[in-house]
Amino acid sequence: MDLSDKILNALKKSGTYLSGQELSEAFGVSRTAVWKAVNKLKKEGCQIEAVTNRGYRLISADDADRLNERTLRESFREAGRFGRPVIYRKEPGSTNTDIMELSDAGSPEGTLVIAEKQTKGKGRRGRTWISPPEGNLYMSLLLRPDFPTASAPMLTLLAAMAVRDGMAAVTGEEELFRIKWPNDIVAVCRDGKVRKVCGILTEMRLEEREIRDVVVGIGINVGQKEFAPEIAETAASLLLVLGRPVPRAELAAASMRRFEQLYDVFRESGSFVPLRPEYEEALINRGRKVRVLDPAGVYEGTAEGIDDTGALLVRTEDGKMTAVSAGEVSVRGVEGYV
Ligand code: BTN
Repeated sequence: MDLSDKILNALKKSGTYLSGQELSEAFGVSRTAVWKAVNKLKKEGCQIEAVTNRGYRLISADDADRLNERTLRESFREAGRFGRPVIYRKEPGSTNTDIMELSDAGSPEGTLVIAEKQTKGKGRRGRTWISPPEGNLYMSLLLRPDFPTASAPMLTLLAAMAVRDGMAAVTGEEELFRIKWPNDIVAVCRDGKVRKVCGILTEMRLEEREIRDVVVGIGINVGQKEFAPEIAETAASLLLVLGRPVPRAELAAASMRRFEQLYDVFRESGSFVPLRPEYEEALINRGRKVRVLDPAGVYEGTAEGIDDTGALLVRTEDGKMTAVSAGEVSVRGVEGYV
C-alpha cells in the first residue's frame, strides 16, 4: 500500500477531520509527504476538504467508477498471473499496440494495459473502435501460449466467456449478458432488443511459424451515456442497461481472474471440449435464425451451437449442417444484429 492508499483508508475510517500532524505521525512521514499524497488523491478524483487548524476530511471517494493507478492496484491486489503487472495508461493510441511494444521489450505473460481512452482504437476487420473517455474500459492482455497456432483463435472465445462471467460476477446479473458468436458480448435490454456492450480483438504474432505472442484486446462500454444514432440500436453500455454505474477496475480484475482459470483448463486439456457446454450456455445465437455473411455467398440457417473447435454450427433449410469458422465470415441475426 502506498502512502496515498493509507491516507485514504484512514480518512474513510475516521469520517471526520484528521490533521496533517496526525497523519504524518501515524505513518511516520513528513507533513509535506502527507500534503503530496493528499494532492495525488485529489488528482485521482477524491474530494478532500482541507481546513486550517482542523486538517483533512474526505467528502467523497467516489471510487465506484474511477479508473486510476490506485483503484487498479486495489482491485488487482489478489490477481494471479493475468493482470500482473497491470499498467494504467491515460491516453494511448491503442492498448493492443502498447502491449505489443511491451512484449517486444520482454514483459511477461499476463501483462495488462488499461486505458481511459484511446486515440487509435482498433476494431475487428480493420475497423476503428471509437474509444471516448466516457467511463468505458479499454484493455489488452499479453499471452505467450505454448500451444499450436491452430488453437489460438479459440482464445478469443475464452476471452468472451471470461468477460461475460466477469460482468455477471460484478453486477450480480447472471442472465443479462450473453455471447454473440464468436466473441461479442451483448445485453438483452428492457425493450427486448439485444445490444453489443463489448468487443474483442485478438491479434497473434508468429515467429518461425510458432506463436510469438497473442494480444487480447477488450473494449467494454461501461459508462457511456450516449451512442451515435447509427449505432444506438445495436450498442449499449452497462450503465444504460443496468441504470447504475459499474466499478471498472473491479470488472477488469474479475474478468482477468476468470480468464486465467479458463486459460488453465484450456491449456491442460489441450482443447476447447471441456469449455464448450458453458460457452453454448451463454451463446445467444443458439436456436436463432442467422444470416452468414460468407464472401463466397450469403446464406441463412439456424444456429445450433458450436463444434469442438469453436466453429458455429448452422443448419440450413435443406437440413445440412455447416461449421462456420470465425475470420472472414460474420454472422448476423436474420431480423437484426442477433
Ligand atoms: C470489435 O471490433 O468488436 C473489437 C473491438 C476491440 C476493442 C478493444 S479496446 C482495447 C483494445 N485496443 C484496441 O485498439 N482494440 C481493443
